[in-house]
Amino acid sequence: MIEGINIVKEFGSPPQRVLHGLNFKILDDEFVSISGRSGSGKSTLLYIMSTLDHPTEGNILIDGVDLKLLNFKEIHFLRNTGIGFIFQFHYLLPELTVLENVLLPARNLGLIDSKRGYARELLNLMGIINLESRYPSQLSGGEQQRVAIARALVMHPRYLFADEPTGNLDTINANIVMKMIQDINKNSKTTVCLVTHDPDYASFADREIYLINGQISERSKDILI
Ligand SMILES: Nc1ncnc2c1ncn2[C@@H]1O[C@H](COP(=O)(O)OP(=O)(O)O)[C@@H](O)[C@H]1O
Ligand SMILES: [Mg+2]
Repeated sequence: MIEGINIVKEFGSPPQRVLHGLNFKILDDEFVSISGRSGSGKSTLLYIMSTLDHPTEGNILIDGVDLKLLNFKEIHFLRNTGIGFIFQFHYLLPELTVLENVLLPARNLGLIDSKRGYARELLNLMGIINLESRYPSQLSGGEQQRVAIARALVMHPRYLFADEPTGNLDTINANIVMKMIQDINKNSKTTVCLVTHDPDYASFADREIYLINGQISERSKDILI
């Protein structure tokens, strides 16, 4: 479970408050969307709940552990083994093949050989195993995003965080990607938090955290503590 307690985020000086004391819980195996207009604080909230950024005030607890109590090494271990990330722009490494890109998180942990089979299984599931030896520049945008999803999943993360993963794709590819994220949530016990400003994609989720100007709207009040 991920629990946010009184999450405040401010940027700049003088400080501009972007998140105004948010309280929420994301339960195990849930698929939650974080939706709202551009600038409402969705990405900021996702980065904070996924260990990539710190709140100005408040606490994030992952499986009961306050992230503030973890040292640099422990946070890194959590990120590498327990969390998968997908972004709007995929950040694949151009000099690595598709398979090597998928295996990147395993490489950091010295697990390339033991994960190769699973990496190829994921590429097969994504319908792109035939592209395993190609380089990112030889793929379409939709194919590249599927590689990024496989990479996010290769360590069997408990949590998958996605920030507008379809933002750069046409409708057909966006629907394929959304369906895959939904299948991952249903079939592999991965808790999913998906940021989107598109109500159609928010509806793929079991539950919606709807942000208005850095506050959780009444529309999603069922998740307030
Ligand atoms: N690193 C930053 N420095 C200053 N302001 C920021 C930074 N990141 C986000 N903001 C501001 O915080 C607000 C929320 O941004 P963001 O979380 O990216 O919104 P969303 O993802 O919903 O479009 C915006 O007004 C944005 O300009
Ligand atoms: Mg954003």
